[in-house]
Amino acid sequence: MESQSFLSRAGELRGELAEIWHTLHRHPELGNQEHFTSKTIEAELCALGLEVRRVLDTGLAAELIGAEAGRTVVFRADMDALPVQEATGVAFASEIPGCMHACGHDFHVTAALGAARLLAERRDRLRGTVRFLFQPDEEGDGGAARLIAAGCLQGADAVFGAHVSPELPAGTVGVRYGKFYAASDMFNIAVRGRSCHAATPEKGADALAAAAEMVGAAAALRRELTELFGPTVISVGSLRAGTARNVIADTAAMEGIIRTLGPQARAAAVEALRSRVEEIAAAHGVRAEFERRESYPGVVNQDAATAHAEASAVQMLGKDRVLRIDTPTMTTEDFGYYLQCLPGSFYHIGVGGDQPLHSPRFLPDEAALPVAAAVHAQVLYDYLNK
Ligand code: NI
Repeated sequence: MESQSFLSRAGELRGELAEIWHTLHRHPELGNQEHFTSKTIEAELCALGLEVRRVLDTGLAAELIGAEAGRTVVFRADMDALPVQEATGVAFASEIPGCMHACGHDFHVTAALGAARLLAERRDRLRGTVRFLFQPDEEGDGGAARLIAAGCLQGADAVFGAHVSPELPAGTVGVRYGKFYAASDMFNIAVRGRSCHAATPEKGADALAAAAEMVGAAAALRRELTELFGPTVISVGSLRAGTARNVIADTAAMEGIIRTLGPQARAAAVEALRSRVEEIAAAHGVRAEFERRESYPGVVNQDAATAHAEASAVQMLGKDRVLRIDTPTMTTEDFGYYLQCLPGSFYHIGVGGDQPLHSPRFLPDEAALPVAAAVHAQVLYDYLNK
């Protein structure tokens, strides 16, 4: 059985993979500064005979070209670390003060390198091309969008990627159909009224009162949209207005975020908030400028690609170790940019433990490493060969 051989071969490679993981874990680098990481990856890929191309400053695109011509499938691994002081106490803890792989991207890189190794060993039976993307800056400003702009998806047919999850036991895989991660938008509202003595408010236009009503409207809208679309967040995190108790405020400024699941909910939330703000401003005789800044799109998995990943994982691990994730998350992930361009699916690799992502004590279980490498290899191999 081919699937058993990927898994058993990955088991044999566990020690070597763990060594790579530990090396990367000791040397975490923030977004767009992944120089050591990138060099380490490049050396591994070149040793496997892949064609490696440097993209942006620290990104890499590496192709494994099979013996037979066929489709091209992309696998993405992110590389950046976080500004967190590690507190795991392990021997291979971060050697960089205030910087840590607290989101497991070192694990993502290692598992992708493991998959590249497994597939390179089976190159003679591979029909098509696997393109591995090692992506900078997932935590910051969306390295995914910049890799796409640099042409990294050109000629590709599908894209897969994965994230470690401490919520799933080590040795399991989690798949999710449809909406998975939230889209993220930021908004600023600037309200301009007219100040006057607070004893005669009718002579001015109260920016503070209008702003307060907008905050209330945002909360009401959040409830309405959640009824319609499922989990939706509209949060005002900051409101500044007014200078003195006896002066009607002439300006108010608000900052907030919107998190939505799916493009429909996203468009509806932004437009509904914009129009409520305008209505309230008109009722108070003030002017309001609503400014929206788009951040990451949501991750919405394609059904066929998800069914494909699920089938490959089940074939390898058995039904009990492939779990369906039943609730989406309101966190973000820039993998959504790839899914706007290509069919594909993003899944979770269970790594166990009792610490959440981004915790200074987050530590994936090493036992999940060969499983991740084997599952990625199987998903990609099956995609090309079936
Ligand atoms: Ni992450």
